[in-house]
Amino acid sequence: MNSDISEVLKKKSSNNWKDDVSILWQLSKTYIWRLIAALLCGLVLSGINGAIAWAIKPALDSIFVEKSAGFLILLPFGIIVLFLMRGVFTYLTNYLMSSIGAKIVRSLRQGIYDKLLTLPISFYNRTSSGSVVSKVLNDVGMLNQIVAYTVKDFFVEGGTVIVLAAVAISRRWDLALLSFIVIPLIIYSIGRLGRRMKRTSMNTRRLISKVTTILHESLQGIKIIKAFTMEKEMAHRQEEALAEHYRNVMRETRINEFSSLIAEILGGIGVAIILFYGGHLVISEEISAGAFFSFIVAILMIYTPLKRLSRVHNNFQQARTVIERIREIVLVEPERHGRIEKEIEGQIVFDNVSFRYPSAQDYTIRDINLEIRRGELTALVGYSGAGKSTLADLVAGFWYPAEGDILIDGVNIKDLSLESLRKGLGVVTQDIVLFDDTIKANILFGRPSATDAEVIEAAKAAYAHEFIMELPEGYEAKIGERGARLSGGQKQRIAIARAILRNPSILILDEATSSLDVESEQNVQKALERLMAGRTTIVIAHSLSTVKKATRIVVMSGGRIIQQGRHEDLLLQSGLYQELYNMQFVSKESNSPSVSA
Ligand SMILES: Nc1ncnc2c1ncn2[C@@H]1O[C@H](COP(=O)(O)OP(=O)(O)O)[C@@H](O)[C@H]1O
Ligand SMILES: [Mg+2]
Repeated sequence: MNSDISEVLKKKSSNNWKDDVSILWQLSKTYIWRLIAALLCGLVLSGINGAIAWAIKPALDSIFVEKSAGFLILLPFGIIVLFLMRGVFTYLTNYLMSSIGAKIVRSLRQGIYDKLLTLPISFYNRTSSGSVVSKVLNDVGMLNQIVAYTVKDFFVEGGTVIVLAAVAISRRWDLALLSFIVIPLIIYSIGRLGRRMKRTSMNTRRLISKVTTILHESLQGIKIIKAFTMEKEMAHRQEEALAEHYRNVMRETRINEFSSLIAEILGGIGVAIILFYGGHLVISEEISAGAFFSFIVAILMIYTPLKRLSRVHNNFQQARTVIERIREIVLVEPERHGRIEKEIEGQIVFDNVSFRYPSAQDYTIRDINLEIRRGELTALVGYSGAGKSTLADLVAGFWYPAEGDILIDGVNIKDLSLESLRKGLGVVTQDIVLFDDTIKANILFGRPSATDAEVIEAAKAAYAHEFIMELPEGYEAKIGERGARLSGGQKQRIAIARAILRNPSILILDEATSSLDVESEQNVQKALERLMAGRTTIVIAHSLSTVKKATRIVVMSGGRIIQQGRHEDLLLQSGLYQELYNMQFVSKESNSPSVSA
């Protein structure tokens, strides 16, 4: 987002409509010339509408009263020209306004996406990705319509109403006044409905976001859904979400249509009174028949733009809900970071570190004191839930300690720039994340500036080159979304090649092989050993062979370090490590290779 827009969104006080107008203005003002062009076309359009109503009097009076044959021949041409111009200017106005709407939507979507990339992990921890997707696609998409039609309605239909009112007044002012009495009534009743509209509209947005979330999660977890035969249950959940959304949409429709209905009824009453009084004036020859019909046409023509104008308020309320929902993302503080730029060498010190997840009651990590020297291999072991992954995430700066400090090469992690920290860091986890692109592009993700030769070298080091070459398109082969076309072990080796190419000083391996079968595990294991060579590595127990080699084994339980030392020494103490070690033997035989499983 151009930063001034997020600034604008920040300034808004929660319930002031002027702020919302100002936000819409800030969003559109980049396209000021287009906007002016659109409004000029709209002005011409209003003029043409007025001209049509105005021309009725001379036309009728000349043809029907004076019976002028010459004027009759001119009339069709005049009508054709006016309607042609009306068509052309309607086209131009709508085209220009729609393009402004579409441009705003494009830049908002880009802006929100950019913003999402800067948000801290804590944001993603408390927000479902489906609801974010829904905001970026559905909510922002709605703004397109709102901007295109509401702004146009407001200015163009508003202009038309004024021009036609002028024609009506010029024909017979007391008749016009009579018909205008109904207008304030209409505006009043619409205003009351607008407030309900805003509430309903907010609900609709929330509910469609629920629908999107279910859809999104189902697509991601389609295998699990099928494997657990949860199809019926999921269908049922979606059915409920859709039903709730439907009810709300219909509520919205009722309010919207009710606004129109009121306008229509009041309009009808007005027309009845006017016809009666006007007919009386014509019979008593106070005005000409032509003037009266010109007046009637003007009033009838006012009706449609007035109805559209009555929508403006509701649409504006919808726009406000969209703005509010976007603000929920835009106002989140970006990831914190310090300013110190440095190349990381790889010494890590935990100084009395404790950490609590924002959503949790209790500390997940407690009083951790640990010094990891440069190039050392440290293994974290412990039961599932002991806090191993959390500790690793702290090193990656995804979260900051609540108490104590983490120092990297003597610099507090909070003072390091994010760029420096993350550049020096490689992470390989159990969930393998590959993007829907070629294999080469996925490896290049580690360091986009790398040459082809470097990519191949990294792939070779990760034991991936061979199987890549066996694919028909080699490095250019597309990985389906979430890597559907490769085996787990192959995907993991691509992820390792990516990490090798990045060449980080600190490496975090979080159960990198635990989701793999024994055979792929061995290949990946070899690749990992290449990757670990010469780097400070924190490995979360994925295989006994690595743990044995560790300079130091850290045994965790309940977020604390309860034992640490070398394999041989720990094995002699009776304690958790011995217990885990014995279990490891058992589980090794049953092909389940993770200590923490
Ligand atoms: N994002 C999170 N938000 C809240 N609690 C979490 C989050 N991630 C993990 N936890 C909790 O923190 C504890 C430690 O989790 P974790 O570090 O993943 O353990 P391990 O990797 O040792 O299995 C667990 O009790 C877990 O429920
Ligand atoms: Mg874990």
